[in-house]
Parts: sequence; structure tokens; C-alpha cells
Amino acid sequence: MSEFKPVRGMRDLLPEDAQVLRAIEEKARVVARLYGYKEIVTPVVESYDLLSAKAGEEVKSRMFLFKDLGGRAVALRPEFTASVARLVASTLRNESKPLRLFCVGSVYRYDEPQRGRYREFWQSNYELMGSDRPEADAEILMLTNSLMQLTGLKKYVFKVGHIGVLKGLLGRENVDEKVQNVVMQLMDKKQHGDAVALLERSGASRECTSIIRKLVELKGANIFRVVDEIKTLVDGCTQSVEAVRNLGEVLELVSKSGCTIDVTVDAGFARGLEYYTGMIFEVYVPDLDIALGGGGRYNRLIELFGGEPTPAVGVAHGMDRIMLALQLQGGFEKAGEQKTAVVVPTKDELIGEAMKLAQVLREAGMTVELEVMGRKMSKVLEAAGRRKATFAVIIGEKEFREGAVVVKDLAKREQTVISVGKIKEYLKS
Ligand code: HAM
Repeated sequence: MSEFKPVRGMRDLLPEDAQVLRAIEEKARVVARLYGYKEIVTPVVESYDLLSAKAGEEVKSRMFLFKDLGGRAVALRPEFTASVARLVASTLRNESKPLRLFCVGSVYRYDEPQRGRYREFWQSNYELMGSDRPEADAEILMLTNSLMQLTGLKKYVFKVGHIGVLKGLLGRENVDEKVQNVVMQLMDKKQHGDAVALLERSGASRECTSIIRKLVELKGANIFRVVDEIKTLVDGCTQSVEAVRNLGEVLELVSKSGCTIDVTVDAGFARGLEYYTGMIFEVYVPDLDIALGGGGRYNRLIELFGGEPTPAVGVAHGMDRIMLALQLQGGFEKAGEQKTAVVVPTKDELIGEAMKLAQVLREAGMTVELEVMGRKMSKVLEAAGRRKATFAVIIGEKEFREGAVVVKDLAKREQTVISVGKIKEYLKS
């Protein structure tokens, strides 16, 4: 049989990368705790109808879709938001609001594999349900900042916009909902020319397309000035004006909170997922042109899934991309390495004793590797040194009869005889 490899777009994470991924996951959990988000675990497989309802053409066409043995159309989740909205529309419908929920895990999209773009990747996802107020949007921006900060990431920038600006203009022109969605997809892919051409073909007025052409150019880090310029540009379109006002409020709250984040406001910004109704954002670092996270407000999804009308805002962070960005910036700062002891019996008759001692040390919280290869002492010590173990605890017949073991400090190359009763304190010190 030929050698098996992971399926295209899938990766094995070897210990070093797996450790970084799990460390980022831990930071994500710390952020969830700090902001009061309760963790839930949802299924990897969901009904295709649920996942595709408002995912948008791009995500929809890239789902791992299949029929299960019962003939149901199901798919691997491409994101968490649909699952969380399903829960809030059903099992959690009577929970008091606001509801803050956190999930973390793998998600699946049949994207073209390249740097930072995988078919299986990890997201940490936060949803804040039940509030339509700007402080809820600001909280999602702030917790994203907290996570980026905690991982040690530097020079990250938030790109922020509001889907209501474009939607307001298109709604006023009575552009068909389906066409609107295609326009948003094109804008998301920065195919602005094609988006405007489609609008022209769909009968949008010259005034509307001219405003959109100008909006696309309107962006910058002087955020309140850009907000004012958008306001002037869309003046007369009530829904768009309301959208910019809301965007201004959210940004003002973030700034008042003392949270110092780099923000660029981008008036022509759209996102691929179709459920957004308000503020939208993504996070970038200069060395990578792919988003490390993204989210926004979606006020109608829960209702669409049969729940009570529930405003909501949320974000998902691409943990693999955060990992990649950290590598480009010089690596993830690892927590102090855990000390490891290798426990070695000098003869087979002492294996049981070695196992017993290993267990005592583990119960005291130490990492203990038992010699399970029956190798000669020199080979064991050589291998332990290569793996950067801290100590070797050698169970020799003579010492053991006297209630002691030999402990070798592998870095200092010193050895001491220690009584079994004192070994825990000795190794810990
Ligand atoms: P999204 O922008 O589709 O949003 O994905 C969030 C993040 O997942 C992206 O910013 C990126 O870091 C990461 N990501 C996406 N595709 C890939 C890929 N192929 N390989 C590696 N990483 C990837 C959502 O998923 C929404 N559910 C966010 C949200 C939550 N909105 C409201 N609540």
C-alpha cells in the first residue's frame, strides 16, 4: 500500500505547533472568562439547511456537504454562528438576555489551500445575544483586542465598517435582495468595478453608483473624520445616515473606554457572510494580507431560525492565522517549560516499584516518563538528555533496599542519593 498522507488542505499539527494552538485556545478561554462568556460545545456536523441559510454564496459553495446514512443533507460546520443562533432560537430561547456564549474548535471550508488558508482550521468564537446597543458592538471589538494582546501579537489593525451604509443605498433603489447579496460578495472580494457594473445593469441610478464609487475610496485611520465624510456622502439616505451614526457611536465608546486600538474605517467594506446587518470588522497585521479575525452585528438570524427577534453581535478569530502571524513576528512566548523526570528501574524486578514511584510523583503534579523500552542506562540517559528532561530518577537495587533512589540532574550532570520520602520536595525545589 502506498504511504498515506493527510487529505489535501488538512494538516497534522506536530507537538510544537499543537502546543502553540492549545496555548492560544487557553488565552481565548481566559478572554471568555474575563468578559463573562460561557463556553458551549456544538456539533461538528449540522444540517446543511441551517448552515447555508445565511452563509453567503462563497461559504455555501465551499462546504463539506454530504448525505448521512439516513439520507439527510448535512455538512461540516464552516463556522459557529449558525449553531449558536440555532441554540438561542430553540433550547436557550427562554434564557434571560444578554446571553454571552463562547465556542472554540475546528471548522471546515473547501478553500484553495495556501499560506494561512486551510480546509480545516480553528476558530475561537464569541456571540453576545440580546442587545442592540453600541456598547455590545464595542465589547466585541474590545475582547478581540484583549485576545490579540494576550497572545503577544503586535501591530494589528482593525478594519471597521457598517454594512447598513451600502444596504441603505441599495434598499432605497429597490435593488433586489439577491442582487444586493451578490454585490456584497463582490465588494468583499474587492471587485468593486464588477459590483458597480452589476448595479448599473440592475437599474440602480447614476447618483447611487456614483456615491458607491466614492464610498469605496473612502477609508482612513482618522476615524471620526472618515465617519463625517461618509455622513456627508450619504446625506439624504436615512438608513445609511443612521448606519454611519451608529458606527460613530460604537467607535466613540471604544475610544472612551481607554482601549487604544489602531482602527481604519473603510466605507466600502463588506463581508462574505450574508447575515450581517450592522457594524462589521476584521483584524489584520501588516505582514499578512489575510484577516486574523472578523465579525459584526447580525440582528435577524435568530428570528430567521424561528426564535424571538434577538439582536446579536459576535466575532470569530482564526487561531491558525494568529499562530502564523506570531511566527512571522518572532514566535509565541511559551510559558515556562514543565520539569520532566525520567524514572528508570535498573532491573526488571524493580519495574513495579518504578511505576509506583512514577505515580507518586505524578500525583504531586510532575511530568514523569517511565522507561518502557528496557534499555541500558547509558541509552536511557542519552535519550533523556536529547529530549531535555530535567531529572533521571534511577531505582537501583542497593539504594532501593535502603529506601532511597539516585537522582541525576541532567543539565548540571550531578547526582545525589535521596530518600524516597523526600524525593517530591527535592524534585520540586
Ligand atoms: P469569517 O470571517 O468567515 O467569520 O471567519 C473568521 C476568521 O476565520 C477569519 O477572519 C480567519 O481568520 C479565519 N478563517 C477563515 N477561513 C479560513 C481558512 N480557510 N483557513 C484559516 N483560517 C480561516 C465567521 O466565521 C463568522 N462566524 C464570525 C462571526 C461570529 N460573526 C458574528 N459572529
